[in-house]
Amino acid sequence: MCKINIKILIVEKGNDIIKGLRSSYGGELQMSAVVLVGAQWGDEGKGKITDFLAEKADVICRYQGGNNAGHTVVVGNKTYKLHLIPSGILYPGKTCIIGSGVVLDPAILFKELEYLTENHIDSNSLKISTNAHLIMPYHRLLDELQEEKRGDFKIGTTKRGIGPCYMDKISRLGIRVIDVMDSEDFKGILGRNLEEKNFFLDKIYGHKGFDFNEMYENYLEYGQKMKPYLVDCSLQINTAHNEGKDILFEGAQGTLLDVDHGTYPFVTSSNPTSGGACIGSGIGPTKIKGVIGVVKAYTTRVGEGPFPTELNDTIGEQLLKAGQEFGTTTGRARRCGWFDAIILKYSVRINGISHLAITKLDVLDELDAIKICVGYKYNGELLKEFPQSLKKLADCEPVFETLPGWKQSISGLSDYKKLPPNAKRYIERIEELVKVKVSIVSTGPGREETMVIDKIF
Ligand code: GDP
Ligand code: IMO
Ligand code: MG
Repeated sequence: MCKINIKILIVEKGNDIIKGLRSSYGGELQMSAVVLVGAQWGDEGKGKITDFLAEKADVICRYQGGNNAGHTVVVGNKTYKLHLIPSGILYPGKTCIIGSGVVLDPAILFKELEYLTENHIDSNSLKISTNAHLIMPYHRLLDELQEEKRGDFKIGTTKRGIGPCYMDKISRLGIRVIDVMDSEDFKGILGRNLEEKNFFLDKIYGHKGFDFNEMYENYLEYGQKMKPYLVDCSLQINTAHNEGKDILFEGAQGTLLDVDHGTYPFVTSSNPTSGGACIGSGIGPTKIKGVIGVVKAYTTRVGEGPFPTELNDTIGEQLLKAGQEFGTTTGRARRCGWFDAIILKYSVRINGISHLAITKLDVLDELDAIKICVGYKYNGELLKEFPQSLKKLADCEPVFETLPGWKQSISGLSDYKKLPPNAKRYIERIEELVKVKVSIVSTGPGREETMVIDKIF
């Protein structure tokens, strides 16, 4: 594919543009309820930024997804990998909630709780919504079998049972946490589910299916172990809000993986976008004060599907290596490419992003020149907006601007004033293109390797 390059000279920008941006976006928020979303295809560094902001929050709530997520948080010399439990758990005393919109694999939950205990992290403040749906062993199996059957049309899922579990939820067949609390009710629900699932597994995949008794006993036991954590998520969140507590909603995945607004069908089965926070926790949209979009200084994607700025060359390899772009959940190498302002603009629109947090700026340290995609060329036409059709997106050629690199290490810098001019120029160009102020810049995985340009709260 021929990529088009437009070299431009960036004129040193006056303060006016930024002042203009501040009037409509950015500025200090009264936190009360703020949503943090991934603005690309996931793995933007949401875990790190959630952890960074959690200091100021009282409650941190995961509102969708499940253990398909992998959020890495580095505190001091220790690296934590969380899949299900909100990243706020690493700050003592914060209430962390697994919300109603999450699909919960109890085996993973208890593994993660054990992992936290082994690492001397207190997880007593964890709460679990009674309405969260449970990932069952047949969901995991179906995820695997469906992917195999899709062959060339596979999605590249994490095989954690996410899609099949959300499928049952929407079909009104799903099993919620509350359903395993009553042994008689659960017997009926599981019986009906297994009858259908075993029939389906046999007829479509020639699989022998699952034994009722074993699954029944296991999940009843999980239920008993979950009991101390259970809450009415909406009530808990709204009570906290009424008491003046600050709530941070931690998104998983990213905007382009959203089942309604992403690159369907190469998406996950939930709504990672900001609206998902209301649905997945039971808070009204009038309570949300701001939306923080977390965005990588370049782009990555795991799994299948079109990716206009993907680099299948040595620069792509350099980003993979410098950014250590290997999946936290599956260990797969992430596809890497240049920053795509069309995607971010789209993400700003879909989520109503008020503040941006740019991560992994340090990964670009060595590059002579850095490209930003500012448009797509499609059939000789210049597109300035993200296309709705996946086919169209797959045929788009990115139109790039090239900016000079800064060619020095910014790794770990926490003072914006110390950033080299070309790094500032890169950030400012992104602000200009998407018309949202960058409030946070991350220059390393650690908590301290973070600069606040514009205080969020
Ligand atoms: P998430 O799923 O959005 O939470 O992101 P992941 O944790 O899957 O992937 C982000 C990776 O980048 C993790 O390994 C982080 O430790 C790391 N990371 C986050 N911010 C920075 C940064 O500013 N610089 C560098 N070099 N690494 C970072
Ligand atoms: P975090 O929260 C990146 C991708 C999978 C696949 C698609 C569907 O760490 O950013 P699924 O298992 O959800 O049915 O897979 O979505 N995917 C992610 N990619 N980061 C994630 O989470 C992801 N969760 C799912 O690779 O392409
Ligand atoms: Mg991740």
